[in-house]
Amino acid sequence: MRVGVCYFPEHWPAERLERDIERMADAGLQYVRMGEFSWSRLEPEPGELDFEWLNEAVSLIGDHGMQAVLCTPTATPPKWLVDEYPSIRQEEADRTPRHYGSRRHYCYNSEIYRRETRRITRALAEAFADDPAVAGWQTDNEYGCHGTIRCYCDDCATAFRQWLKEKYGDVETLNESWGNAFWSQDLNSFAQVDPPRHTAAEHHPARLLDYYRFSSDSVVEYNRLQTELLREADGDWFVTHNFMGHFGALDAYDVSEDLDFASWDSYPTGNVQGRSKPASSAELRVGDPDQIGFNHDLYRSATGSPFWVMEQQPGDINWPPYSTQPGEGAMRLWAQFAAAHGADVVSYFRWRQCRMGQEQYHSGLLAPNGSPDRGYHDAAQAAAEFEELLADDPQISGAATGAVPKANVAVLHDYDNLWALEIEPNTPDFDYWEHLETYYAALRARSVTVDVVPPSAELSDYDAVVAPTLYLADEELANSLERFVDSGGELLVTMRSGVKGPFNKLHETRQPGPLTDLLGAEVAQFESVPERIESGVNYGGEQFDCRVWNDWLSPVADSAEVVGRYDGELADGEAAIVHHPVGDGSVLYVGTWPEAALADELVDDLLERADVATTPKLPDQVRMAHRNGLTWVANFSEQPVVVDAPSDTRWLVGCDELERFDVAVADAVPTALTIEQEGGR
Ligand code: GAL
Repeated sequence: MRVGVCYFPEHWPAERLERDIERMADAGLQYVRMGEFSWSRLEPEPGELDFEWLNEAVSLIGDHGMQAVLCTPTATPPKWLVDEYPSIRQEEADRTPRHYGSRRHYCYNSEIYRRETRRITRALAEAFADDPAVAGWQTDNEYGCHGTIRCYCDDCATAFRQWLKEKYGDVETLNESWGNAFWSQDLNSFAQVDPPRHTAAEHHPARLLDYYRFSSDSVVEYNRLQTELLREADGDWFVTHNFMGHFGALDAYDVSEDLDFASWDSYPTGNVQGRSKPASSAELRVGDPDQIGFNHDLYRSATGSPFWVMEQQPGDINWPPYSTQPGEGAMRLWAQFAAAHGADVVSYFRWRQCRMGQEQYHSGLLAPNGSPDRGYHDAAQAAAEFEELLADDPQISGAATGAVPKANVAVLHDYDNLWALEIEPNTPDFDYWEHLETYYAALRARSVTVDVVPPSAELSDYDAVVAPTLYLADEELANSLERFVDSGGELLVTMRSGVKGPFNKLHETRQPGPLTDLLGAEVAQFESVPERIESGVNYGGEQFDCRVWNDWLSPVADSAEVVGRYDGELADGEAAIVHHPVGDGSVLYVGTWPEAALADELVDDLLERADVATTPKLPDQVRMAHRNGLTWVANFSEQPVVVDAPSDTRWLVGCDELERFDVAVADAVPTALTIEQEGGR
C-alpha cells in the first residue's frame, strides 16, 4: 500500500524539477507517473528523439528513493505525424475525421499508426530498460476516453472483414448466423461488409454486436503490441493500463490478459454525477462508495491481483457538470478505501494544477502557484498511514504485497450483455451498471467481499453468485451455472435473462431459453415499465416497489416455488420471483428490478442460504471491507458514526468513533460488528 502521483515535467520550467521531486519525497510519495501525453517533446521532429528531460526526471526520482512509472505516449500523436499520415485519424460513423487538436484521435487498426507505435515504444523501452528507477509501464492512456473505441474508417473496414472471415469462415455462415434475410441484407462476400456507418434507420443488431466486439478486440490487439515490446526490453518491470470507471465499450477482462495488473482512474465526485439518480449532497462531496467499490472490485478481479488507482481525484475537477470541492479528508478516505478493496498503489492526478491547456480548472496536490492544496495534506496523511500499517506488523506488511481480499460471493458482469442491451434497450430507463449495483450495494451493505467477474469465470470457489441480466445465454453458460448450483452454490438470476443467443438473435424457445431448466420457470410475458405505470411486488408478506422491467414468470418445474407476485395493474397476481432448488443448491429468479429494500431482502435470504457471514445492514454511505486480517470502516456519510466492536479490537488508524468522511482501520476482523450513525439512518 503506497501513494504516488502523476507528474508532467514538460509543463514546468526545468529549474523546478528538483524542487518538485524533493517535495514529492517529503510528502511520502513513492511512485511518479510520467510521459503519457509527451510525444511531441520526446520526438519533436520525425526521428529526432529527445529523452534527456525524461531521463533526468527519472534519475532524480530514483535519487530521492522513489520509482517512476513511464507511459507510452501514443494517446497523443503529434501534429507532424498526423500531417504526414492523415489516414491514422479515427472517423465517426458519418465519416467525419477526428481532427488533430485534442487527444485520442488515432485509429487502433491503422497499420501506419501501429508501425509508429512500435517505433516510439521500442525506442523508449530500450532507453529505460534495466533502469532500477523505473518500476514499470502504463500503456497509452485510458483507451476509449472521449468515445474513441469505435472507429469507422477504411482501415477498420479492412480489419473488420478479416475479423469476420476468421470468425465465420464463409459468407453463407455469416448470413445465416446474423440473419441477413431481414431487410435484404444478404451479402455475397466478406468484401461487401462495411463498418456500421451512418444509415437511415437502426443497423442490424447482429452486425452491430459483432462490430462492438471487433472494436474491443482491436484495442486488445493494439495494446498487446505495446506490452510485448515493453516485456521484450525488460522482463522485470510491470506493464499495466489505466482503465476508466464504468466504461462499457472496451472489454477490460480481455485487455487485462496482457497486463501484470489492472489500474483504473477514480474520480468519485465526477463519476457520481454521471449516474441516473441525482447525487446527494454527501455524494457530491465524496462520491458513492458502491460505485467506487464496484470498479475497485472489477479491476482487482480482472487479474486476480492487487490493482492500482493510477489516477486518484486530488481535489475539485473540471469535467463533471458541477465542480464541487470534495469533503474534508476525502482524498485520504478514497486512498484508504482503495487499499481496503485491494489496491497496492493510489496515485493522485496530478501533482500541480496546470496554468495552460485544456485542464486548467483541474486541481492538483499543489495549487498553480506551487503551494500545497487540500489534496496534498490528504495524500501525505494517507502515505504516512500506509507506512505505519506496513511497519506495524510483519504479517500486515507481507500481506500488503500481493494479498487480495478473499471473496466468497461473485457478481457476474459481461460486456457482451452490456453491448447487446445498448443496441436494443427497449426502455430508456435500463442502465446495466446501475442494475448490477442494486445487488452489489445490498451485498456491500452487509459487508460481504465481492468479486466482479465475467460469466465464463470459474465459479466453484464462491458460495453465492449474483447474475443480473444474463441477456445472451447459450448451453455452455447454462451447463456451467448448473454445475455451480448442483454442487451446492446459491445463484440469483434476474430479469431479461436468456433472451438471445450469441449472435444477438432471439431463442426459438421462450425466455430464459437455455436457462429454463435451471431457473425452473419461463417468461410468459414481459414489458418495460415507465414510472407512470405503478409496479409493485409482494415478497415475504411485504409490499415493495419494482421498476423498469417486469418479466411475468411461469414455473415449469414441480419443485419451483413462486415466492413473489406482482401487485396491482395489469401484471397483478403474476409470478415475479421464483425459487428453484437444484441438486445441493438453489436458484432465485427475480423477474424485475427491485427497489433497494427488496434487493436487500433478496440478498439477505440468498446469503443466509449460502451460509455467508454478514454484518447487520450498515447505514447508507458507510462501508466495511476486509483485506488480509485488516478491517476498514469507511464513512462516506455526512454524519459521524460509532462502531460497536469487541473491546480488545486494536485500531491501527483512527478509532471506533468516526467523523464524517473519516476512515478507521483495525487489525482483526471484528465479528458481530455493528455501526450506528448519529441521528439514525
Ligand atoms: C482522466 C485522464 C487524464 C485527465 C483526467 C482529468 O480521464 O486520464 O489525462 O484528463 O481524466 O480528470
